[in-house]
Amino acid sequence: MFNKINNCYNTKDFRRLAKKRLPSPIFHYIDGAADDEVTYRRNTEAYEQCDLVPNVLAGVENIDMSTTVMGQKIDMPLYLAPTALQRLFHHDGEKAVGKAAEKFGTMFGISSLATASIEEISDLIKTPKLFQLYVHKDKGLNNSMIDRCKDSNFDVLALTVDTIVGGNRERDLYTGFTSPPRLTLKSLLSFAIHPNWAFNYFIHPRFELSQLKDYFEEGTNISVSISDYFTKLIDQSMDWKAAEEINKHWGKQFALKGIMSVADAKKAVDIGATAIMVSNHGGRQLDGSRSPFDQLAEIVDAVGDKIDVICEGGIQRGTHILKALSIGAKACSGGRLYLYALAAAGQAGVERALNQYKLELERDMKLMGCTKISELSKKNLRFK
Ligand SMILES: Cc1cc2nc3c(=O)[nH]c(=O)nc-3n(C[C@H](O)[C@H](O)[C@H](O)COP(=O)(O)O)c2cc1C
Repeated sequence: MFNKINNCYNTKDFRRLAKKRLPSPIFHYIDGAADDEVTYRRNTEAYEQCDLVPNVLAGVENIDMSTTVMGQKIDMPLYLAPTALQRLFHHDGEKAVGKAAEKFGTMFGISSLATASIEEISDLIKTPKLFQLYVHKDKGLNNSMIDRCKDSNFDVLALTVDTIVGGNRERDLYTGFTSPPRLTLKSLLSFAIHPNWAFNYFIHPRFELSQLKDYFEEGTNISVSISDYFTKLIDQSMDWKAAEEINKHWGKQFALKGIMSVADAKKAVDIGATAIMVSNHGGRQLDGSRSPFDQLAEIVDAVGDKIDVICEGGIQRGTHILKALSIGAKACSGGRLYLYALAAAGQAGVERALNQYKLELERDMKLMGCTKISELSKKNLRFK
């Protein structure tokens, strides 16, 4: 039943199909999280602890789901969070995801660890683009990525601040996941029983981390674990001063990705950031950290009138997005919700996933008695 994309109606269905299509080290790299994965599970459960209270008889034949976030007008209040290594999940990688985002008029985020270059993505899509920056010890690399984004007219720079070291992702240790994949005794069988993936991986253009390849062997075809990459290359001395300087150098819409405390949200306002992503990296970093939805109200109450607040992580349904917007998030973003679909069927899969979110959001807004996002408010929610 779950062998076909046409039988996928929600994120859980795409996840099942992705699991079938991908060699297990790659599936578990997407699906896994840190330590005991408590935060990962809570990220979704938190939405289930909150009920919606609809209004009716509201005349809802026309729904406007557009929103403006970080200065970008997008057609739906969900955009695609930056994620690494997409070429491993499907041979069309970031290009497939970018084209799908463009079709649905939403923003696409690319990672510093993308397998397509800043220029390729800029040439390919005309809708808003976000670049996610990891700050490396090599300042030349950091500056070059920012300058390339400026030259390529990227709209938003998001500095990830929750990944100063790699999280302890034990599934990757068990499966021996490396980037690019290394054939080991452990993983051999899994690659052998997924010949389609293996065939496509080898006949399509070579795997590389496009932004890093000229700087380190970690950006090339030499296999490394993701945890080694962070430990060796990321600048652990990064602080508020450094973030402020990056913002000045960039000079356009600037977001901090991975803010969880009110104190940090206020500092983000102080350094002139235009947005914060309330996020724990999909539970992949600090296990036991609070879920973004649980933490959202505190942050919106403190800084929601000064900075765009985005809620990210654990989203699996249109109603999850409506709950976050009701608290005051300007938009939501997600990673796995489109990565499973990418793995399942490339661009067509991501389009199908986005279409389902769009239809769910439209239907649920109508059922809530709202015609536009500004009509959602805390009055629509009750916590159990
Ligand atoms: C496979 C994978 C790779 C990711 N790579 C990055 C990355 O390179 N940079 C980054 O800032 N966040 C990265 N993230 C985190 C996402 O941007 C986002 O915070 C997270 O996926 C949200 O949780 P969700 O997957 O439950 O929606 C990654 C997430 C996943 C699942």
